Amino acid sequence: MSTTAASKGLAGIVAAETEMSYIDGERGILEYVGIPIGELSAKSNFEEVIFLLWNRRLPTESELKQLKLDLSERYELPAGMSNRLLALPMNAGPMHMLRTMISALSMHDPDPNNIELDQARLKALNILAHAPTLIAYFDRYRRGRYLVPPRRDLSFSENFLYMLNGSVPTPTMARAFDICMILHADHGLNNSTFAARVVISTLSDVYSALTAAIGSLRGPLHGGANEGVMLMLNEIPSLKDVEPYVMDKIERKEKIMGFGHRVYKTKDPRATDLQKLAQQLAKDTGNEDLFAKSQAIEKIMERELAAKGIYPNVDFYSATTYHCLGLDLDLFTPMFAMSRIAGWAGHILEQLSDNRLYRPAAEYIGPHDAPYVPMKQRS
Ligand code: SDX
Repeated sequence: MSTTAASKGLAGIVAAETEMSYIDGERGILEYVGIPIGELSAKSNFEEVIFLLWNRRLPTESELKQLKLDLSERYELPAGMSNRLLALPMNAGPMHMLRTMISALSMHDPDPNNIELDQARLKALNILAHAPTLIAYFDRYRRGRYLVPPRRDLSFSENFLYMLNGSVPTPTMARAFDICMILHADHGLNNSTFAARVVISTLSDVYSALTAAIGSLRGPLHGGANEGVMLMLNEIPSLKDVEPYVMDKIERKEKIMGFGHRVYKTKDPRATDLQKLAQQLAKDTGNEDLFAKSQAIEKIMERELAAKGIYPNVDFYSATTYHCLGLDLDLFTPMFAMSRIAGWAGHILEQLSDNRLYRPAAEYIGPHDAPYVPMKQRS
């Protein structure tokens, strides 16, 4: 079997075919099943995007109604899961909680290993519907507040904000959050999606594949970057401090969170949509200073690093957006995960429908014919 030289980080290596997301990194294009992301964020909703990704077409009105019903019927956790959740340390990291509890959901499934496509899809639907409840319940629990049970009459986004805050969100807030869910749903073979496909390619199970994906997404080079962006914005005292702060990081060759991308060598189209959302929400919630700092950072980065193809990615303006929606900083990446479960599940189903075990080669660069040195002779 012939092997090619190692591509560090598998950069540029095509490791799968997908019908869900198309990305043109040079032109800054993202499409879900051929529909430009800007069209979907302007006109669609998260439930419709879930259907689109899983069925490769937009739903009819009755199909969309059915999916919303199928999801809302599954908002509530299985019996016993809330007790598990309330037994966790209150200071557990929300991404560690989510990874743990989604894994624990398999204990409440009578047939957790079943990966027949229709069964795998049902498991994915359950997990997608439970994730918002797990996150909202955990946040209320860690704050010593009573749990707010889900409401089946509310949409995915409305219901999450309702369970989190204890009140039905305004249409503006619910719409802004839903746009975030649309924008984060899928993105080709990113690290966490690849992790899910690698795990399911062994014919393991949906819970194991999604647990692996959540573990990957938490990383600061991936989904954890939105939290890093907020930490950076909080570290910069005021607008006049932006230039020295950013220049100091660049001079120390430190990476600026929310910028750069393995595929995009121009502005991530999702960042453009999120920028508009962040600007509006910052104005509505009195956070204009946050948005102004973000804009200033983007201008300096454009002056200094655009030539290297380093532009804002999806995480840069999602930080301000989530902050203005009232979310705590350590809930930002769980929001990314909540949405991306839709994409991860779509890829799991895609992998299962045409599977081959992932097993890349490694180029051995160690010694050969080495002697076994007896313990007494070792230094
Ligand atoms: C996501 O893959 C996806 O699709 C992911 C995602 C999705 O939807 O699933 O889009 C979501 O993960 C977005 C990325 C979020 N991560 C960050 O914002 C963290 C900061 N970004 C970088 O760590 C970096 O840009 C990566 C990890 C995103 C991409 O890294 P690569 O492709 O491995 O590029 P690299 O680290 O080899 O950098 C190439 C050069 C280096 O300079 P040189 O050594 O060549 O001189 O660009 C520089 C880097 O130092 N560089 C940066 C930078 N990112 C790259 N310099 C300053 N700040 C940055 N953010």
